[in-house]
Amino acid sequence: MIPSSLEKQLTAALESREARQIRRSLPPSADTALVDFSSNDYLSLSKSSDLRTRFLEKLGSTKQILGSGGSRLLVNGSAHVDLEDRLRIFFSRTDTAPQSGSSPFSILTLDALLFNSGFDANVGFFACVPQPGDLIIHDEYIHASVHDGMRISRARSIPFKHNSVKDLEKILLCLKNERPELVDGNGSVFIAVESLYSMDGTISPLEDIIQLAESAFPSSNAYVSVDEAHCTGIYGPNGRGLVSLLGLQDRVFARLHTFGKALAGTGAVLLVPPLVKQYLINYARTLIYTTSLSYANVISVNCSFDILESGRAEEFSRHVLALCKYLTAALTDRLRHSLTPIMPEILSLPEHLQPSASSCSPQLPVPIIPLMTSYPRSLAARLRTFGLNARPITWPTVPKGKERVRICLHAENSFEEVDLLIQYSMQWATEMAFESSRGVLAKL
Ligand SMILES: Cc1ncc(COP(=O)(O)O)c(C=O)c1O
Repeated sequence: MIPSSLEKQLTAALESREARQIRRSLPPSADTALVDFSSNDYLSLSKSSDLRTRFLEKLGSTKQILGSGGSRLLVNGSAHVDLEDRLRIFFSRTDTAPQSGSSPFSILTLDALLFNSGFDANVGFFACVPQPGDLIIHDEYIHASVHDGMRISRARSIPFKHNSVKDLEKILLCLKNERPELVDGNGSVFIAVESLYSMDGTISPLEDIIQLAESAFPSSNAYVSVDEAHCTGIYGPNGRGLVSLLGLQDRVFARLHTFGKALAGTGAVLLVPPLVKQYLINYARTLIYTTSLSYANVISVNCSFDILESGRAEEFSRHVLALCKYLTAALTDRLRHSLTPIMPEILSLPEHLQPSASSCSPQLPVPIIPLMTSYPRSLAARLRTFGLNARPITWPTVPKGKERVRICLHAENSFEEVDLLIQYSMQWATEMAFESSRGVLAKL
């Protein structure tokens, strides 16, 4: 049979990716025998017997556990409402004294709205909340879901350089010249950032960004939204995130916490002022036109928050962050003192994790450490042969020339496993450096 034009187009696109070595494929099904340096299960809660027992008990004693019956606008299960109430209270608590600053838009009162995923929450929010004529200024590394929301949005979007407060300032200054009415509070500027960027393990300079937004737009019409997907459960009192850790909760317009990473669940909650919640219920298509989280799912999320509230998660995250400091320091030392010089393109840590990092405030330890290498597939394959699972990350997920093997650290990882990771990575790098000196290194 002659292939249809659609078949030809799809095949050509895939073959082109193949030729450029960027064709994606699903990894082999999870091999639990491998050491996990790959998943987002930072607190290893998916393997916690405590969480499992709690969840099974609650499932056994709850009448309604299957499905949810439809969209929230059709069937508004009391379990969903109760979870939103619980999360509103949990994330409103201010163990960390809120910092002073202007509080636009009655941010002081907070409401919570569940979405089926962080992806849905970002698409829903950015597609409908910014109004025609508004602007969305976003970090260039912002998550794909925000891009999808912005594509649908009626507002114009402008990227700023990753984590660069200077670049953001430049853009805001230009905007004020171009659109003087914004300075008087006519129209809105949204600033979209993540607290921790998952491909790079970089932390957003949140305080500086918020300060800048407030001073550039004294009419309080610059709204900062923070995606806490990778900080939920890790930072802040009881794992409430980086915004809470820094006491910025009253100065952030929208906060996203996802359940699929450190909380071993599925779904997400958007924390927004009550008016915005009502607007989303009316206009966010990713909320309106989809079946809501199943009851079993809501129970699982509640159990994860039981663990956070018990304080146990703080123990787990302390261990994860200790591993992170250890890995960074030990690998830096091994690279520096290697008898065979290792070029940065073979193996290096990113600039922000180098001891000479120029940032005036040392970065918090993070559970994501990118091992920068031009040969990520080769390094990941080598680690796998030794039973360590870490994923190669290539373009288009990261810019060309910024390929890496991304290491995610977990509560269940041990210092000995991190030692093995360093040992096998260095062995591989030394062999690659030797090949390179013989001029036989082909791009793998
Ligand atoms: C920063 C960020 N935001 C949002 C999401 C989407 O969250 P979810 O996995 O719940 O859809 C992800 C997940 O990849 C993420 O990394």
